[in-house]
Amino acid sequence: MAFWRKATLSRVENPCFLLFLIIFQAIFILILYRGSSSTVLQDHLDMPSPADYSKTQDVYTNLSLYTPAPDKATMRYCTSETVMNVGPLTITFDILPSERTIIDKNPYVQSGGCYSPPHCLTSYKTAIIVPHRNHEKQLRHFLYYLHPFLQRQQLYYCIYLIHQAGSGPFNRAKLLNVGVREALKDDDWDCLLLHNVDLIPENDYNFYVCEEYYPKLMSSAIDVLYYSLPYWSFFGGVIALTPEHYMKINGFPNTYWDRDGENDDIAERIQIVGMKIYRTPLVIGHYKVVYGKQPSGPLQDIIRPVLHTSKTWKDDGMNSLDFKLLAKKKYPLYTNITVDIGAAPILFPQGKKEGNKMSFGSF
Ligand SMILES: *[C@@H]1O[C@H](CO)[C@@H](O)[C@H](O)[C@H]1NC(C)=O
Ligand SMILES: *[C@@H]1O[C@H](CO)[C@@H](O)[C@H](O)[C@H]1NC(C)=O
Repeated sequence: MAFWRKATLSRVENPCFLLFLIIFQAIFILILYRGSSSTVLQDHLDMPSPADYSKTQDVYTNLSLYTPAPDKATMRYCTSETVMNVGPLTITFDILPSERTIIDKNPYVQSGGCYSPPHCLTSYKTAIIVPHRNHEKQLRHFLYYLHPFLQRQQLYYCIYLIHQAGSGPFNRAKLLNVGVREALKDDDWDCLLLHNVDLIPENDYNFYVCEEYYPKLMSSAIDVLYYSLPYWSFFGGVIALTPEHYMKINGFPNTYWDRDGENDDIAERIQIVGMKIYRTPLVIGHYKVVYGKQPSGPLQDIIRPVLHTSKTWKDDGMNSLDFKLLAKKKYPLYTNITVDIGAAPILFPQGKKEGNKMSFGSF
């Protein structure tokens, strides 16, 4: 029962906090529901609650109402009055949308996969950073859902794919370091949204913005993980950090090749520098895995590697990052950054480890 012991012994996170979280969550939903019915949804009091997943809406619902303001000079700031959240979204992977379809359905997305609301001013900027290699179908579903999802939230955003060249072991955390460095050359992003390509958000109240003080786990409830946290310090899938948070922990480790554990290393870094992890309330943080499968055994049997983060974090991260930028190309729906991140050390133990691996997050 190492998983529970860890949860109880952990300095930052204890059972009282869990209880607090549940209560907080209930209050949050209440405020959200009442708040929204008194302002945004004034005329639609019969709208479903933001947490009722039996009534879902199309992610493109009413998006065409966001049309360019007639006069840029007098354009107003985006407010909660102009936001069009519908709550739970209909997500299916039965039909693979063509790239043409996605482009046509998102007429205001600009080259490089960037968008700023045409109808209102926003100053908040979110970079979506996605490590990627050989998952073209998942990518298509991802773009089909993510673009309208982000537009519903009136965000200024760009989607960056970080493509690892070659066929060596994949290194997700190092690719994220590369993505952060390259994205910050383009713009002064307020929030770095680090996203697996196979995770699709199911609720548009899950705002893709950062918390001011703490890094945030967006994907707190994933379908194949029974919509629950697999273990308390889980920090994988979709996470949001400000550039300040990111630099404070020296970014992510560069040394996790083709294996799990980098998420735990990152969570450990956050704790070491005295930050905590904020989690999107479970009812809002719903995600579906594209073509996902449940783990083959109980969640508490997931094998988690032994970490040495306290010894390594200061020397392994953004300050030791080296890579060769091979290409940075703007496509209609994303910016494709191709990098040579080197090879895994020769002594790297080859072959998959035994046990119950989670079926996502490893590419
Ligand atoms: C879409 O817009 C129409 C017209 O403004 C409105 O009546 C309808 O309730 C909206 N639908 C949703 C799901 O918000
Ligand atoms: C990104 O670019 C690389 C080469 O620069 C290419 O091999 C890869 O297919 C591209 N990926 C996507 C999704 O466009």
